[in-house]
Amino acid sequence: MFQRVQLSLMRAILLLNGPNLNLLGTREPEIYGTETLEAIVERAAAYAHTLGLELRHVQSNHEGALIDALHEARSWASGVIINAGAYTHTSVALRDAIRAVGLPTIEVHLSNIYAREPFRHTSLIAPVCVGQISGFGAESYLLAVQAMAWLLQRMP
Ligand code: DQA
Repeated sequence: MFQRVQLSLMRAILLLNGPNLNLLGTREPEIYGTETLEAIVERAAAYAHTLGLELRHVQSNHEGALIDALHEARSWASGVIINAGAYTHTSVALRDAIRAVGLPTIEVHLSNIYAREPFRHTSLIAPVCVGQISGFGAESYLLAVQAMAWLLQRMP
């Protein structure tokens, strides 16, 4: 009974992962580590739960599907954590969607995008996000969950 009440008070957040992140674990492990996306999401969801947040996850390799997930989040999410993968550097449409949806959004990267090739130094989504966490490997996701909990606590 108590648990049900507690769960209903939980705020839900969307974790959105873009192209090629489904290959984590085997994809360029020297850059992205060896942990699978499934394992990272499981850890992030468990951590979110301890902070009173319910984390729902969507991964897609398709720009439109990521935008659809953002649109749908308007009806249920209090915030968004996004690793847009390569779309970070190219997608005006994703940037517009984040701004249009208006949910507080945190940008996440496993690698430090500013220490890599010049084309990764520009994030088109950074200006429409509250902040960015980049370069801490899989821990970037947990830091983003912590930042989201902090952010939502300060919001009505
Ligand atoms: C990434 C960085 C991007 O530049 C790259 O295209 C990715 C992963 C990261 O998490 O470090 O796919 O977003």
